Amino acid sequence: MRARLAAVGAGPGDPELITVRGLRLLREAETVFFPATREGASFAQQIISGYLDPERQQLVELLCPPYREQALLKRRWLELAAVVRETLANRKSGVFVCEGDPSLYSTFYYLREGLEQAAPEILIDIVPGVNAVSASAAVAGLPLAIWDERLLIAPAPADPDTLRRYFSDAETLALLKVGANFDPVLKAIKQVGARSIMVRRAGRPEQQVLVDADAMRDAGIDYFTTLLVKKGEG
Ligand SMILES: C[S@@+](CC[C@H](N)C(=O)[O-])C[C@H]1O[C@@H](n2cnc3c(N)ncnc32)[C@H](O)[C@@H]1O
Repeated sequence: MRARLAAVGAGPGDPELITVRGLRLLREAETVFFPATREGASFAQQIISGYLDPERQQLVELLCPPYREQALLKRRWLELAAVVRETLANRKSGVFVCEGDPSLYSTFYYLREGLEQAAPEILIDIVPGVNAVSASAAVAGLPLAIWDERLLIAPAPADPDTLRRYFSDAETLALLKVGANFDPVLKAIKQVGARSIMVRRAGRPEQQVLVDADAMRDAGIDYFTTLLVKKGEG
């Protein structure tokens, strides 16, 4: 029997936002893999922990530091692909849980590339999830696009020229991975005269939705923050 691995999107934070199919596969899995940047700190695991059965299921954390170089990430995920291969040699069905959706800036595609090299025999299934952009729009009560509008999703740029260029292609920007750029990003948004809404930890009890730039600045940086920015409404 060939081993199977399903990449399941866990959604952005609220455990109720997983799909029915994703939940079924998660409950049926003999092994559940989680990505984590350090030990015991998997956000994906935190989201779906209530659905797990540690008595019956083997839980495996796949540790990859937040490398800034893509080559290091690829090398580490090739090593982790070997871990997945060895684990699934005994237990044949596994789920890899992704935060949000597996297709959007997810480590899953590094793992898949590693598995293509290290374990091409494993059958892979991808189950989409609610991504942070859709979840942020829902809690902010904001349409991402209506009629013939365009939406651009990108890591948050810290310079106004890039923002202007993005706005020549789209009416709405969804900016992710704000991180340490937070202040310059807010400044750039102000400079181009756009209107922004900040959604932090959508779907979690600590969720925040802020429209005021000062309040955003006071709230500070959090990796799990999305900025929805609308053209020319600043
Ligand atoms: C590496 S990307 C992963 C995106 C994820 N795969 C998805 O589909 O949403 C991480 C970025 O997604 C955004 N994000 C993830 N979870 C979020 C949440 N609960 N609320 C707001 N933004 C979130 C943040 O911008 C964060 O820096």
